[in-house]
Amino acid sequence: MQQLPKIGLLAVSMALICHTYSPLQPIQSSIGFAVLGYLLSDYLIPATAPYFIKIGLFGKDLSKKDKPVIPETIGIIPAVVYLFIMFSFIPFMFFKFLVVDTSGGGSRDTGVDLETADSNYFPHNKLSSYLSGILSLESMVLLGLLDDLFDIRWRHKFFLPAIAAIPLLIVYYVDFGVTHILIPTFIKNIFGFEAVSIDLGALYYGYMAAVAIFCPNSINILAGINGLEVGQSVVLAVLLLLNDFCYLIPASLRSTPAYETHLMSTCILVPFLGVSLSLLKFNWYPAKVFVGDTFCYFSGMVFAFVGISGHFSKTLLLFFLPQIFNFVYSIPQLFGLVECPRHRLPRFNEEDNMMYPSHAVFKKRLPKLIEKGMLILEALGLLEVVKEEMKTDNKTEIIIKECSNFTLINLVLVWFGPMREDRLCFVILLLQFSIGLISLVARHTIAALLFGYDNLSIFNLSILSSN
Ligand code: UD1
Ligand code: MG
Repeated sequence: MQQLPKIGLLAVSMALICHTYSPLQPIQSSIGFAVLGYLLSDYLIPATAPYFIKIGLFGKDLSKKDKPVIPETIGIIPAVVYLFIMFSFIPFMFFKFLVVDTSGGGSRDTGVDLETADSNYFPHNKLSSYLSGILSLESMVLLGLLDDLFDIRWRHKFFLPAIAAIPLLIVYYVDFGVTHILIPTFIKNIFGFEAVSIDLGALYYGYMAAVAIFCPNSINILAGINGLEVGQSVVLAVLLLLNDFCYLIPASLRSTPAYETHLMSTCILVPFLGVSLSLLKFNWYPAKVFVGDTFCYFSGMVFAFVGISGHFSKTLLLFFLPQIFNFVYSIPQLFGLVECPRHRLPRFNEEDNMMYPSHAVFKKRLPKLIEKGMLILEALGLLEVVKEEMKTDNKTEIIIKECSNFTLINLVLVWFGPMREDRLCFVILLLQFSIGLISLVARHTIAALLFGYDNLSIFNLSILSSN
Protein backbone atom coordinates (compact mmCIF):
# COMPACT_ATOMS: atom_id res chain seq x y z
CA MET A 1 0.00 0.00 0.00
CA GLN A 2 2.86 2.37 0.92
CA GLN A 3 4.35 1.92 -2.54
CA LEU A 4 1.14 3.02 -4.31
CA PRO A 5 2.11 6.71 -4.85
CA LYS A 6 5.49 5.60 -6.23
CA ILE A 7 3.85 3.11 -8.62
CA GLY A 8 1.49 5.91 -9.70
CA LEU A 9 4.47 8.23 -10.31
CA LEU A 10 6.23 5.51 -12.29
CA ALA A 11 3.16 5.11 -14.51
CA VAL A 12 3.02 8.89 -15.02
CA SER A 13 6.73 9.00 -15.93
CA MET A 14 6.28 6.20 -18.49
CA ALA A 15 3.26 7.94 -20.02
CA LEU A 16 5.18 11.22 -20.29
CA ILE A 17 8.21 9.54 -21.87
CA CYS A 18 6.33 7.38 -24.36
CA HIS A 19 3.81 9.94 -25.64
CA THR A 20 6.17 10.74 -28.50
CA TYR A 21 3.83 12.75 -30.73
CA SER A 22 2.99 15.34 -28.08
CA PRO A 23 3.71 18.94 -29.12
CA LEU A 24 5.55 19.34 -25.80
CA GLN A 25 8.27 16.88 -26.78
CA PRO A 26 11.13 16.47 -25.97
CA ILE A 27 10.56 18.48 -22.76
CA GLN A 28 7.72 16.16 -21.80
CA SER A 29 10.02 13.12 -22.04
CA SER A 30 12.68 14.95 -20.02
CA ILE A 31 10.14 15.47 -17.20
CA GLY A 32 9.23 11.76 -17.45
CA PHE A 33 12.92 10.81 -17.20
CA ALA A 34 13.38 13.21 -14.27
CA VAL A 35 10.56 11.46 -12.37
CA LEU A 36 12.02 8.07 -13.30
CA GLY A 37 15.50 9.22 -12.17
CA TYR A 38 14.10 10.49 -8.90
CA LEU A 39 12.32 7.18 -8.22
CA LEU A 40 15.34 5.04 -9.13
CA SER A 41 17.76 7.08 -6.98
CA ASP A 42 15.23 7.24 -4.19
CA TYR A 43 15.09 3.45 -4.19
CA LEU A 44 18.79 2.76 -4.75
CA ILE A 45 20.31 5.21 -2.24
CA PRO A 46 18.89 3.62 0.95
CA ALA A 47 19.17 0.12 -0.56
CA THR A 48 22.91 0.42 -1.33
CA ALA A 49 24.08 2.80 1.44
CA PRO A 50 25.01 0.03 3.96
CA TYR A 51 27.31 -1.57 1.35
CA PHE A 52 29.28 1.67 1.04
CA ILE A 53 30.02 1.52 4.77
CA LYS A 54 30.94 -2.17 4.42
CA ILE A 55 33.70 -1.37 1.89
CA GLY A 56 35.01 1.55 3.92
CA LEU A 57 33.34 4.41 2.07
CA PHE A 58 32.10 6.44 5.01
CA GLY A 59 32.79 9.71 6.78
CA LYS A 60 32.12 11.27 10.16
CA ASP A 61 29.45 13.95 10.32
CA LEU A 62 31.65 16.48 12.09
CA SER A 63 28.83 18.84 13.04
CA LYS A 64 26.79 16.43 15.15
CA LYS A 65 27.05 15.46 18.83
CA ASP A 66 28.36 11.91 18.50
CA LYS A 67 30.00 12.45 15.10
CA PRO A 68 27.97 9.63 13.49
CA VAL A 69 29.55 7.58 10.72
CA ILE A 70 27.53 7.79 7.51
CA PRO A 71 28.08 6.45 3.99
CA GLU A 72 30.16 8.67 1.69
CA THR A 73 30.40 8.85 -2.15
CA ILE A 74 26.65 8.24 -2.45
CA GLY A 75 26.66 10.79 -5.28
CA ILE A 76 27.76 7.94 -7.53
CA ILE A 77 24.19 6.54 -7.41
CA PRO A 78 22.35 9.57 -8.87
CA ALA A 79 25.28 10.10 -11.27
CA VAL A 80 25.05 6.58 -12.70
CA VAL A 81 21.23 6.71 -12.75
CA TYR A 82 21.50 10.02 -14.64
CA LEU A 83 23.91 8.58 -17.20
CA PHE A 84 21.66 5.57 -17.87
CA ILE A 85 18.64 7.82 -18.17
CA MET A 86 20.43 10.05 -20.62
CA PHE A 87 21.35 7.01 -22.74
CA SER A 88 17.69 5.98 -22.79
CA PHE A 89 16.68 9.55 -23.64
CA ILE A 90 18.56 9.53 -26.98
CA PRO A 91 15.84 7.86 -29.11
CA PHE A 92 13.18 10.13 -27.62
CA MET A 93 15.18 13.33 -27.98
CA PHE A 94 16.17 12.62 -31.58
CA PHE A 95 12.90 10.90 -32.50
CA LYS A 96 11.91 13.36 -35.19
CA PHE A 97 15.06 12.55 -37.11
CA LEU A 98 14.65 8.77 -37.20
CA VAL A 99 14.50 7.26 -40.68
CA VAL A 100 11.76 4.62 -40.97
CA ASP A 101 12.17 3.58 -44.57
CA THR A 102 15.18 3.12 -46.84
CA SER A 103 15.76 1.78 -50.31
CA GLY A 104 19.22 0.73 -49.16
CA GLY A 105 22.70 2.18 -49.42
CA GLY A 106 21.99 4.54 -46.55
CA SER A 107 19.23 6.43 -48.43
CA ARG A 108 16.99 8.47 -46.14
CA ASP A 109 13.70 7.83 -47.96
CA THR A 110 11.13 8.33 -45.21
CA GLY A 111 11.65 9.86 -41.83
CA VAL A 112 9.26 9.97 -38.90
CA ASP A 113 8.96 13.64 -39.67
CA LEU A 114 10.30 13.89 -43.18
CA GLU A 115 10.02 17.63 -43.43
CA THR A 116 12.18 18.28 -40.40
CA ALA A 117 14.51 15.43 -41.21
CA ASP A 118 15.08 16.78 -44.71
CA SER A 119 15.58 20.35 -43.68
CA ASN A 120 18.05 19.49 -40.94
CA TYR A 121 19.48 16.30 -42.42
CA PHE A 122 20.43 14.19 -39.47
CA PRO A 123 21.35 16.48 -36.58
CA HIS A 124 24.84 15.06 -36.32
CA ASN A 125 26.03 18.27 -34.72
CA LYS A 126 23.49 18.08 -31.89
CA LEU A 127 23.87 14.33 -31.35
CA SER A 128 27.65 14.55 -31.37
CA SER A 129 27.63 17.45 -28.92
CA TYR A 130 25.17 15.51 -26.73
CA LEU A 131 27.30 12.35 -26.83
CA SER A 132 30.50 14.29 -26.17
CA GLY A 133 28.87 15.83 -23.09
CA ILE A 134 27.82 12.39 -21.85
CA LEU A 135 31.36 11.11 -22.47
CA SER A 136 32.82 14.02 -20.49
CA LEU A 137 30.35 13.34 -17.69
CA GLU A 138 31.27 9.65 -17.62
CA SER A 139 34.97 10.51 -17.42
CA MET A 140 34.30 13.04 -14.68
CA VAL A 141 32.29 10.54 -12.62
CA LEU A 142 35.12 8.02 -13.01
CA LEU A 143 37.77 10.54 -11.93
CA GLY A 144 35.57 11.79 -9.06
CA LEU A 145 35.13 8.22 -7.86
CA LEU A 146 38.89 7.68 -7.97
CA ASP A 147 39.30 10.81 -5.89
CA ASP A 148 36.83 9.53 -3.28
CA LEU A 149 38.59 6.15 -3.23
CA PHE A 150 42.18 7.40 -3.09
CA ASP A 151 41.79 10.92 -1.67
CA ILE A 152 43.84 12.50 -4.48
CA ARG A 153 45.87 15.57 -3.49
CA TRP A 154 44.31 18.97 -4.18
CA ARG A 155 47.09 20.11 -6.53
CA HIS A 156 46.46 17.02 -8.67
CA LYS A 157 42.69 16.70 -8.53
CA PHE A 158 42.17 20.38 -9.33
CA PHE A 159 42.99 19.79 -13.01
CA LEU A 160 41.12 16.50 -13.52
CA PRO A 161 38.00 18.19 -14.96
CA ALA A 162 40.07 19.62 -17.83
CA ILE A 163 40.95 16.07 -18.91
CA ALA A 164 37.32 14.97 -18.65
CA ALA A 165 36.23 17.98 -20.72
CA ILE A 166 38.40 17.07 -23.74
CA PRO A 167 35.56 15.35 -25.72
CA LEU A 168 33.33 18.38 -25.13
CA LEU A 169 35.99 20.81 -26.35
CA ILE A 170 36.89 18.73 -29.41
CA VAL A 171 33.27 18.55 -30.51
CA TYR A 172 32.92 22.29 -29.88
CA TYR A 173 35.89 22.81 -32.19
CA VAL A 174 34.51 20.55 -34.94
CA ASP A 175 30.86 21.53 -34.64
CA PHE A 176 30.82 25.23 -33.75
CA GLY A 177 34.33 26.57 -33.53
CA VAL A 178 33.32 30.16 -32.75
CA THR A 179 36.07 31.74 -30.66
CA HIS A 180 34.87 35.35 -30.89
CA ILE A 181 33.74 37.42 -27.96
CA LEU A 182 31.63 40.53 -28.25
CA ILE A 183 33.21 43.86 -27.34
CA PRO A 184 31.03 45.96 -25.00
CA THR A 185 29.78 49.16 -26.63
CA PHE A 186 31.41 51.42 -24.01
CA ILE A 187 34.86 49.83 -24.65
CA LYS A 188 34.35 50.30 -28.40
CA ASN A 189 33.51 53.95 -27.75
CA ILE A 190 36.48 54.55 -25.42
CA PHE A 191 39.09 52.90 -27.66
CA GLY A 192 37.38 53.73 -30.93
CA PHE A 193 37.15 50.07 -32.06
CA GLU A 194 35.23 49.40 -35.26
CA ALA A 195 34.90 45.64 -34.75
CA VAL A 196 31.85 44.07 -33.06
CA SER A 197 33.89 41.17 -31.65
CA ILE A 198 37.45 39.92 -31.20
CA ASP A 199 38.72 36.45 -32.01
CA LEU A 200 40.45 34.82 -29.04
CA GLY A 201 41.46 31.76 -31.08
CA ALA A 202 43.14 29.03 -29.02
CA LEU A 203 42.80 31.18 -25.89
CA TYR A 204 39.05 30.60 -26.05
CA TYR A 205 39.65 26.86 -25.61
CA GLY A 206 41.83 27.65 -22.62
CA TYR A 207 38.95 29.71 -21.24
CA MET A 208 36.45 26.86 -21.78
CA ALA A 209 38.84 24.37 -20.12
CA ALA A 210 39.06 26.84 -17.20
CA VAL A 211 35.24 26.87 -17.01
CA ALA A 212 35.27 23.05 -16.91
CA ILE A 213 37.90 23.11 -14.14
CA PHE A 214 36.15 25.84 -12.19
CA CYS A 215 32.56 24.51 -12.09
CA PRO A 216 33.27 21.15 -10.35
CA ASN A 217 35.99 22.49 -8.03
CA SER A 218 34.00 25.54 -6.96
CA ILE A 219 31.08 23.33 -5.90
CA ASN A 220 33.48 21.04 -4.03
CA ILE A 221 34.94 23.90 -1.96
CA LEU A 222 31.58 25.46 -1.10
CA ALA A 223 30.89 22.46 1.12
CA GLY A 224 30.99 21.11 4.64
CA ILE A 225 27.42 21.46 5.92
CA ASN A 226 24.59 19.01 5.29
CA GLY A 227 22.76 19.64 2.03
CA LEU A 228 25.01 22.36 0.62
CA GLU A 229 26.83 20.54 -2.20
CA VAL A 230 23.65 19.13 -3.71
CA GLY A 231 21.49 22.10 -2.63
CA GLN A 232 23.63 24.60 -4.55
CA SER A 233 23.53 22.29 -7.58
CA VAL A 234 19.71 22.24 -7.44
CA VAL A 235 19.62 26.06 -7.21
CA LEU A 236 22.03 26.37 -10.15
CA ALA A 237 19.93 23.97 -12.25
CA VAL A 238 16.73 25.93 -11.45
CA LEU A 239 18.40 29.25 -12.38
CA LEU A 240 19.70 27.82 -15.66
CA LEU A 241 16.25 26.43 -16.44
CA LEU A 242 14.69 29.85 -15.80
CA ASN A 243 17.20 31.28 -18.28
CA ASP A 244 16.27 28.51 -20.76
CA PHE A 245 12.55 29.31 -20.41
CA CYS A 246 13.28 32.91 -21.43
CA TYR A 247 14.21 31.50 -24.84
CA LEU A 248 11.65 28.69 -25.05
CA ILE A 249 8.49 30.62 -24.20
CA PRO A 250 8.44 33.48 -26.81
CA ALA A 251 6.93 32.09 -30.02
CA SER A 252 9.09 34.51 -32.03
CA LEU A 253 12.23 32.55 -31.11
CA ARG A 254 10.90 29.15 -32.25
CA SER A 255 13.00 28.72 -35.36
CA THR A 256 16.19 30.26 -34.04
CA PRO A 257 19.45 28.50 -33.03
CA ALA A 258 19.03 29.90 -29.51
CA TYR A 259 15.71 28.03 -29.16
CA GLU A 260 17.32 24.72 -30.15
CA THR A 261 20.29 25.33 -27.84
CA HIS A 262 18.13 26.09 -24.82
CA LEU A 263 15.80 23.18 -25.61
CA MET A 264 18.83 20.89 -25.41
CA SER A 265 19.95 22.56 -22.19
CA THR A 266 16.47 21.99 -20.68
CA CYS A 267 16.58 18.31 -21.69
CA ILE A 268 19.93 17.93 -19.91
CA LEU A 269 19.00 19.85 -16.77
CA VAL A 270 15.49 18.54 -16.02
CA PRO A 271 16.59 14.88 -15.46
CA PHE A 272 19.58 16.21 -13.49
CA LEU A 273 17.14 18.02 -11.22
CA GLY A 274 15.21 14.77 -10.74
CA VAL A 275 18.20 12.71 -9.54
CA SER A 276 19.63 15.60 -7.49
CA LEU A 277 16.37 16.12 -5.58
CA SER A 278 16.40 12.49 -4.49
CA LEU A 279 19.98 12.89 -3.23
CA LEU A 280 19.07 16.13 -1.46
CA LYS A 281 16.34 14.28 0.42
CA PHE A 282 18.99 12.00 2.01
CA ASN A 283 21.74 14.61 2.34
CA TRP A 284 19.58 17.32 3.97
CA TYR A 285 20.03 17.91 7.70
CA PRO A 286 20.42 15.59 9.54
CA ALA A 287 22.28 13.89 6.67
CA LYS A 288 21.88 10.15 6.22
CA VAL A 289 24.48 10.10 3.44
CA PHE A 290 27.39 12.23 2.16
CA VAL A 291 27.52 13.02 -1.54
CA GLY A 292 31.31 12.73 -1.94
CA ASP A 293 33.54 14.52 -4.42
CA THR A 294 32.02 12.28 -7.12
CA PHE A 295 28.78 14.27 -6.98
CA CYS A 296 30.50 17.68 -6.87
CA TYR A 297 32.52 16.83 -9.97
CA PHE A 298 29.54 15.28 -11.71
CA SER A 299 27.20 18.22 -11.10
CA GLY A 300 29.89 20.78 -11.97
CA MET A 301 30.50 18.98 -15.25
CA VAL A 302 26.75 18.94 -16.05
CA PHE A 303 26.82 22.74 -15.81
CA ALA A 304 30.03 23.01 -17.84
CA PHE A 305 28.40 20.71 -20.42
CA VAL A 306 25.27 22.89 -20.87
CA GLY A 307 27.28 26.12 -20.76
CA ILE A 308 29.92 25.05 -23.28
CA SER A 309 27.76 23.06 -25.69
CA GLY A 310 25.00 25.68 -25.44
CA HIS A 311 27.49 28.52 -26.05
CA PHE A 312 26.39 30.44 -22.97
CA SER A 313 29.38 29.90 -20.69
CA LYS A 314 29.48 33.57 -19.69
CA THR A 315 25.83 33.51 -18.60
CA LEU A 316 26.64 30.28 -16.75
CA LEU A 317 29.43 32.02 -14.84
CA LEU A 318 26.99 34.76 -13.86
CA PHE A 319 24.96 32.14 -11.98
CA PHE A 320 28.17 30.91 -10.33
CA LEU A 321 28.79 34.32 -8.68
CA PRO A 322 28.58 32.97 -5.07
CA GLN A 323 30.98 30.14 -6.01
CA ILE A 324 33.30 32.65 -7.73
CA PHE A 325 33.21 34.82 -4.61
CA ASN A 326 33.94 31.78 -2.41
CA PHE A 327 36.87 30.81 -4.65
CA VAL A 328 38.40 34.29 -4.79
CA TYR A 329 37.84 34.73 -1.05
CA SER A 330 39.53 31.34 -0.44
CA ILE A 331 42.67 32.29 -2.40
CA PRO A 332 44.77 33.19 0.70
CA GLN A 333 44.22 29.66 2.02
CA LEU A 334 44.16 27.81 -1.31
CA PHE A 335 47.50 29.34 -2.33
CA GLY A 336 49.08 28.83 1.09
CA LEU A 337 49.41 32.51 2.11
CA VAL A 338 47.43 31.65 5.22
CA GLU A 339 47.38 28.20 6.83
CA CYS A 340 44.65 25.99 5.37
CA PRO A 341 43.34 23.23 7.65
CA ARG A 342 42.13 19.96 6.06
CA HIS A 343 38.54 20.97 6.89
CA ARG A 344 37.33 24.54 6.81
CA LEU A 345 33.74 23.74 7.72
CA PRO A 346 32.18 25.85 10.50
CA ARG A 347 32.70 24.93 14.16
CA PHE A 348 29.91 22.97 15.78
CA ASN A 349 29.10 23.83 19.37
CA GLU A 350 27.62 20.83 21.18
CA GLU A 351 26.15 22.97 23.96
CA ASP A 352 23.68 24.95 21.87
CA ASN A 353 23.68 22.79 18.70
CA MET A 354 24.72 25.84 16.66
CA MET A 355 27.37 26.53 14.04
CA TYR A 356 30.03 29.22 14.62
CA PRO A 357 32.77 30.47 12.28
CA SER A 358 35.73 28.08 12.38
CA HIS A 359 39.18 29.59 12.80
CA ALA A 360 42.63 29.06 11.38
CA VAL A 361 45.09 29.30 14.29
CA PHE A 362 48.59 30.64 13.64
CA LYS A 363 51.46 29.20 15.61
CA LYS A 364 53.98 31.53 14.00
CA ARG A 365 53.71 35.28 13.44
CA LEU A 366 52.26 36.07 10.00
CA PRO A 367 54.11 38.39 7.58
CA LYS A 368 53.18 42.01 8.30
CA LEU A 369 51.63 42.56 4.86
CA ILE A 370 49.24 39.64 5.37
CA GLU A 371 48.33 40.90 8.84
CA LYS A 372 47.57 44.33 7.37
CA GLY A 373 45.40 42.75 4.67
CA MET A 374 43.50 40.81 7.31
CA LEU A 375 42.88 43.94 9.37
CA ILE A 376 41.49 45.67 6.28
CA LEU A 377 39.18 42.69 5.64
CA GLU A 378 38.10 42.83 9.30
CA ALA A 379 37.33 46.54 9.00
CA LEU A 380 35.23 45.79 5.90
CA GLY A 381 33.30 43.13 7.84
CA LEU A 382 34.77 40.37 5.67
CA LEU A 383 36.75 38.52 8.34
CA GLU A 384 36.69 37.69 12.03
CA VAL A 385 40.11 37.96 13.68
CA VAL A 386 41.49 37.23 17.12
CA LYS A 387 44.32 39.67 17.79
CA GLU A 388 46.66 40.60 20.55
CA GLU A 389 48.24 43.92 21.30
CA MET A 390 51.96 43.80 21.97
CA LYS A 391 53.62 46.76 23.58
CA THR A 392 57.25 47.28 22.70
CA ASP A 393 59.43 50.23 23.89
CA ASN A 394 57.54 53.06 22.32
CA LYS A 395 54.86 51.55 20.10
CA THR A 396 51.94 49.12 20.20
CA GLU A 397 51.85 46.31 17.64
CA ILE A 398 48.85 44.19 16.69
CA ILE A 399 49.49 40.48 16.27
CA ILE A 400 46.87 38.28 14.62
CA LYS A 401 46.54 34.96 16.43
CA GLU A 402 43.50 33.49 14.63
CA CYS A 403 41.12 34.34 11.83
CA SER A 404 37.89 32.84 10.52
CA ASN A 405 38.51 30.41 7.66
CA PHE A 406 38.13 32.10 4.29
CA THR A 407 34.85 30.52 3.13
CA LEU A 408 31.47 32.00 2.25
CA ILE A 409 29.90 29.65 4.84
CA ASN A 410 31.99 31.16 7.65
CA LEU A 411 31.38 34.66 6.33
CA VAL A 412 27.61 34.16 6.49
CA LEU A 413 28.08 33.19 10.14
CA VAL A 414 30.26 36.26 10.74
CA TRP A 415 27.52 38.45 9.21
CA PHE A 416 24.38 36.88 10.64
CA GLY A 417 25.65 35.22 13.83
CA PRO A 418 25.51 31.55 14.89
CA MET A 419 22.87 29.34 13.30
CA ARG A 420 21.75 25.74 13.29
CA GLU A 421 23.24 23.74 10.39
CA ASP A 422 20.01 23.42 8.35
CA ARG A 423 19.19 27.11 8.73
CA LEU A 424 22.72 28.04 7.67
CA CYS A 425 22.37 25.90 4.55
CA PHE A 426 18.98 27.42 3.80
CA VAL A 427 20.32 30.99 4.20
CA ILE A 428 23.23 30.29 1.81
CA LEU A 429 20.91 28.70 -0.77
CA LEU A 430 18.48 31.62 -0.49
CA LEU A 431 21.36 34.05 -0.94
CA GLN A 432 22.54 32.10 -3.98
CA PHE A 433 19.05 32.02 -5.50
CA SER A 434 18.48 35.75 -4.93
CA ILE A 435 21.84 36.68 -6.47
CA GLY A 436 21.05 34.32 -9.36
CA LEU A 437 17.67 35.96 -10.02
CA ILE A 438 19.25 39.43 -9.99
CA SER A 439 21.95 38.15 -12.37
CA LEU A 440 19.30 36.70 -14.68
CA VAL A 441 17.48 40.02 -14.93
CA ALA A 442 20.81 41.87 -15.31
CA ARG A 443 21.89 39.41 -18.02
CA HIS A 444 18.93 40.35 -20.19
CA THR A 445 18.83 44.06 -19.43
CA ILE A 446 22.28 45.48 -18.57
CA ALA A 447 23.98 43.11 -21.05
CA ALA A 448 21.83 44.51 -23.85
CA LEU A 449 22.86 48.03 -22.81
CA LEU A 450 26.56 47.13 -22.52
CA PHE A 451 26.85 45.15 -25.73
CA GLY A 452 24.08 46.90 -27.64
CA TYR A 453 22.77 43.40 -28.17
CA ASP A 454 20.91 40.57 -26.39
CA ASN A 455 20.16 37.25 -28.06
CA LEU A 456 16.65 37.19 -26.59
CA SER A 457 15.72 39.47 -29.45
CA ILE A 458 15.30 37.75 -32.82
CA PHE A 459 16.80 40.76 -34.56
CA ASN A 460 20.05 40.31 -32.68
CA LEU A 461 20.33 36.67 -33.61
CA SER A 462 21.47 37.64 -37.04
CA ILE A 463 24.70 39.01 -35.51
CA LEU A 464 25.82 35.97 -33.53
CA SER A 465 23.96 32.80 -32.62
CA SER A 466 24.43 33.07 -28.87
CA ASN A 467 26.18 35.15 -26.22
C1 UD1 B 1 36.35 20.49 0.82
C2 UD1 B 1 36.87 21.75 1.53
C3 UD1 B 1 37.04 21.51 3.03
C4 UD1 B 1 35.68 21.07 3.60
C5 UD1 B 1 35.22 19.82 2.88
C6 UD1 B 1 33.82 19.43 3.35
C7 UD1 B 1 38.45 23.37 0.67
C8 UD1 B 1 39.80 23.61 0.15
N1 UD1 B 1 38.15 22.11 0.97
O1 UD1 B 1 37.41 19.52 0.92
O2 UD1 B 1 37.44 22.71 3.65
O3 UD1 B 1 35.79 20.81 4.98
O4 UD1 B 1 35.15 20.07 1.45
O5 UD1 B 1 33.16 18.61 2.47
O6 UD1 B 1 37.67 24.27 0.84
N2 UD1 B 1 31.55 16.68 6.10
C9 UD1 B 1 30.72 16.90 7.19
N3 UD1 B 1 29.47 17.39 6.94
C10 UD1 B 1 29.01 17.65 5.68
C11 UD1 B 1 29.87 17.42 4.59
C12 UD1 B 1 31.14 16.93 4.83
O7 UD1 B 1 31.09 16.66 8.33
O8 UD1 B 1 27.87 18.06 5.52
C13 UD1 B 1 32.89 16.11 6.34
C14 UD1 B 1 32.80 14.59 6.56
O9 UD1 B 1 33.75 14.21 7.52
C15 UD1 B 1 33.13 14.04 5.19
C16 UD1 B 1 34.14 15.06 4.71
O10 UD1 B 1 33.70 16.32 5.21
O11 UD1 B 1 33.70 12.75 5.28
C17 UD1 B 1 34.20 15.12 3.21
O12 UD1 B 1 35.24 15.96 2.87
P1 UD1 B 1 35.81 15.96 1.39
O13 UD1 B 1 34.69 16.15 0.43
O14 UD1 B 1 36.69 14.79 1.18
O15 UD1 B 1 36.69 17.28 1.45
P2 UD1 B 1 37.31 18.07 0.23
O16 UD1 B 1 36.39 18.10 -0.90
O17 UD1 B 1 38.71 17.62 0.00
MG1 MG C 1 34.40 17.33 -1.20
